[in-house]
Amino acid sequence: MQTQHKSAQKPSIRPENPNFSSGPCSKRPGWSLEVLNDATLGRSHRSKLGKAKLAEAIELSKEVLQVPRDYRLGIVPASDTGAVEMAMWTMLGQRGVDVLAWESFGKGWVTDAVKQLKLQDINTYEADYGQIPDLSLVDCDRDIVFTWNGTTSGVKVPDGDWIKDNRQGLTICDATSAVFAMEIPWQKIDVLTYSWQKVMGGEGAHGVIVLSPRAVERLESYTPDRPFTKDFSVN
Ligand SMILES: Cc1ncc(COP(=O)(O)O)c(C=O)c1O
Repeated sequence: MQTQHKSAQKPSIRPENPNFSSGPCSKRPGWSLEVLNDATLGRSHRSKLGKAKLAEAIELSKEVLQVPRDYRLGIVPASDTGAVEMAMWTMLGQRGVDVLAWESFGKGWVTDAVKQLKLQDINTYEADYGQIPDLSLVDCDRDIVFTWNGTTSGVKVPDGDWIKDNRQGLTICDATSAVFAMEIPWQKIDVLTYSWQKVMGGEGAHGVIVLSPRAVERLESYTPDRPFTKDFSVN
């Protein structure tokens, strides 16, 4: 394991609403109980109505986030955590992986890679609260797991310039505290995850996973030698 870090620059502008954290977040502006009037309650997600709602949420999410047309967006169980772990469990191990962390959630992904998945070829780049690892050390021909905005330390990556466009590895980005609020350079991202409970103050339990064509190709061409739950199965 390596510990490398650079000092982060503190933002000069403070948010108007500070109610954003690793716990519950504010509802979006204009939210009221009435928005639940047509909630799909008591229905299976496999019902016609449930499927139509999911399809609508998928299309609107792609539109608002300006996700490239050839990327796919899916709604998955177990919130952002489910989405990140789904990607790690199904995609990692095909090549070496660099895992970056500078606060508790990123450190959770390090633990997953090292202690749960027990991957053979891992570099970890960790920094203390208030710091960020030296991003120039990352090797884009390996897979990369990182958090765009580290909620519990308030430290984010400055941009995606440190990620090569012609990389061989996949970038797996936990962007749950970034999407809808920060610019995402999609050409630098192969897997991006978030949950509604964070960015929009929505309900827990749902996660979102966005996949680039190269991420889909990895899923179709690589099957790691580890058991999957049915949720994690590609087919
Ligand atoms: C950066 C980051 N990753 C992951 C999570 C976990 O999200 P969830 O509870 O939606 O699984 C959080 C929650 O605050 C977070 O801030």
